[in-house]
Amino acid sequence: MNVLRFESESAWIACVCSLWRDRLQTNPGLKMCLPSGTTPAGIYAGMSKSARAGLASFAWASVFALDEFGGLAPDDPGRTRHTLQRQLIDAVDLPASRFYFLDPDVPDVNHHCTAYDEAIGDGFDLMLLGIGLNGHLGMNEPGSAPDSPTRRVELHGSTVQSAARYFAHQNVPQWGLTVGLQAVLASKEVWLLANGPAKAGIIQQTVRGEIDPSNPASLLRRHENCSLFVDAEAGGLLLD
Ligand code: PGA
Repeated sequence: MNVLRFESESAWIACVCSLWRDRLQTNPGLKMCLPSGTTPAGIYAGMSKSARAGLASFAWASVFALDEFGGLAPDDPGRTRHTLQRQLIDAVDLPASRFYFLDPDVPDVNHHCTAYDEAIGDGFDLMLLGIGLNGHLGMNEPGSAPDSPTRRVELHGSTVQSAARYFAHQNVPQWGLTVGLQAVLASKEVWLLANGPAKAGIIQQTVRGEIDPSNPASLLRRHENCSLFVDAEAGGLLLD
């Protein structure tokens, strides 16, 4: 795992956006998997700005949403699909037909998840990930099998608690659908992103602790092309 630590959040954002523009330029048909959450918000704003300035194009690319919350109204603004649309998709030139998302309201969720894995096909070129306070990736909670497929999952208590900030109501989701660790670990390139002081502990464990499914993010240390991008706060315990 290549660890990149930045002195400021703005430098962290600028570097990720610059590399992302480069990947799109080198491979216009880039197949990406993207998270929602608060971590990538500034990066998505930077990429939206780049697209508006003509410095980045998603015209030939594909984007798959990493996960989706279940048990919400279809138009709930906290759903991953809507958050990603607001933060990035609506601001860039990605054709609507190449934005893939998970729908927890379909009658046959298992079939839907299998079809998602089929659409992913031979894997992602680039996967962006946030990290949960317990090391989860997407909704792959601690204990998820490294070869897990896209599937329905129950969220851990701490995940439910921390997801509450995404919603303006009390009906915080207890379950969701997530791309599995199999597709995460098979992605050609993975960028694990973390900012802010709350992530310092789990980042330290991820980089220095045991490689074990009890911390899904630690499994990325076995990936051949994974970079961890942290700001000074999230990387604050990595120095010594
Ligand atoms: P956050 O969520 O980006 O909102 O901190 C990360 C996660 O729980 O995966």
